Amino acid sequence: MLDVEARDRIIVAIDCGRDEALQLADALRGHARWLKVGMTLYYAEGPAIVQEFCNRGFKVFLDLKFHDIPHQVRGAARSAALAGADLLSVHGLGAGAMLAAACEGAQEAAQSSGRDRAKLVAITVLTSMDEAALAQIGLTCPIPEEAARLASLAKSNGIDGVVCSPREAADMRALLGPDALVVTPGVRPAGAALGDQSRVATPAAAIAAGASHLVIGRPITAADDPVAAYEAIVQELVFTA
Ligand code: C5P
Repeated sequence: MLDVEARDRIIVAIDCGRDEALQLADALRGHARWLKVGMTLYYAEGPAIVQEFCNRGFKVFLDLKFHDIPHQVRGAARSAALAGADLLSVHGLGAGAMLAAACEGAQEAAQSSGRDRAKLVAITVLTSMDEAALAQIGLTCPIPEEAARLASLAKSNGIDGVVCSPREAADMRALLGPDALVVTPGVRPAGAALGDQSRVATPAAAIAAGASHLVIGRPITAADDPVAAYEAIVQELVFTA
């Protein structure tokens, strides 16, 4: 894999407060291309933090996992894309009309801003949920079937791909085809601390399984030298993926 392609595939999850987030962004500038903003940072800082990352030249994955009535989700996707996000997440469980509305919102933002349409990825089954949790909400089929059904529904309503664990990446790639986005968290370079992640894969293994993008947080952000940790992952992909 080329160096530039490796950088395009690594999304650094910035899960901290504003000051630390901006310090990390300044340090990673010129190295990383993608940052991920989740609910914790976004609900504290709002669209301004997305704009600050964009102004520093980063692409932003705004991971707010939309799930509401279609009208609200259309507006959410439009607002998030207008804030500068390049990639957005939405719950597959919101069903077809809501998924299509998210795409429409992103399209409306592209028309009014003149930028490329923000891409959308669907959450199928949260990896924190097991079959007992699914049964609590009335979903009784095996998790892989449930995830495949929701991924197909998302694709048929215009969504660009899915978020899934590296272990599901091969199945999702086979189901959704070569152009789909397959975004995997739960990635740990060999020897890195697991933290609260249990079912993990190395960056090269996740790419080999079919991931298009890797979401990696603490192995980079909590390292003594985040830039060195990031560059080591780039090198792993360049030489082994
Ligand atoms: O620090 P770490 O590499 O574990 O961060 C992973 C990121 O991916 C976090 O922002 C986390 O919220 C997100 N995530 C995850 N597992 C999922 C979905 C998202 O760890 N199943």
